[in-house]
Amino acid sequence: MHSRKVSKAIIPAAGLGTRFLPATKASPKEMLPLVDKPLIQYAVEEAVSAGIQDIIVITGRGKRAIEDHFDLSFELEENLKESGKEKLLNEIRRISELANFCYVRQRHARGLGDAILCAQHLIGNEPFAVILGDEVLLNTPIRGVYEVEAEEVSRYGIIAAEPAGPRLFKVTDLIEKPSLQEAPSRLAVIGRYILPAAIFPVLEKTPPGKNQEIQLTDALRALARSSPMHALLMNGIRHDAGDKLGFLKATVEFGLKNPELGDRFAHYLKGLKF
Ligand code: G1P
Repeated sequence: MHSRKVSKAIIPAAGLGTRFLPATKASPKEMLPLVDKPLIQYAVEEAVSAGIQDIIVITGRGKRAIEDHFDLSFELEENLKESGKEKLLNEIRRISELANFCYVRQRHARGLGDAILCAQHLIGNEPFAVILGDEVLLNTPIRGVYEVEAEEVSRYGIIAAEPAGPRLFKVTDLIEKPSLQEAPSRLAVIGRYILPAAIFPVLEKTPPGKNQEIQLTDALRALARSSPMHALLMNGIRHDAGDKLGFLKATVEFGLKNPELGDRFAHYLKGLKF
């Protein structure tokens, strides 16, 4: 078996962000900041640090701010240069040089599976990564599944699996957002996937599932029947920043880790009375 390097990542960013209304009424959910960086920048930086060069963002109406964020900003750069703000200038420049960006619009909100299909023509026949920017990972290069609380299973794709090695599972089935009774385990898919191009013809045939959307989980379920599929159990810290409480937790965590603010923020938190 030879392994092929994954050089492209799809970042779906066309969702309406209803869980964060009214904040997301006129601005993309993906641009919500954790301390001082928008959520989507964490996803892009994670992909780049894993060796990915090409980032395909699936966008939709009202998502232009994402394109502007990763583009050159001539006026801003000139302004920072004139006012001698060298450090900020370098940071702003670095963002536009992170990767090769490509944007594809998903015209109808038909679900995650459909969003991935929108990039089929840019992927060709290679394996590729999918990164869901809602999920933020701290300190871990490992991708895969994460054990969630029983009351949380209905928010995720859940796998049925057999142990296949240290923290490695062979996936035998997947169910999108099952009830606690239906859930075959508490192992949730946490928005990091490496997929073969063979997923595209399967997605094309996948009918709408949960919430009447074309679910990536359903296509993976079909694929798992015909070819082996594995999941790695993550043991790092992970937050679902697509959820208000998860977002607050991630903000606190990133705030504490911030080199400029961490100490003062920790001091402030310790002084809070509950
Ligand atoms: C999506 C996937 C789900 C996965 C989750 C991870 O759901 O459909 O299988 O577990 O992301 O965050 P969404 O959060 O888009 O509803």
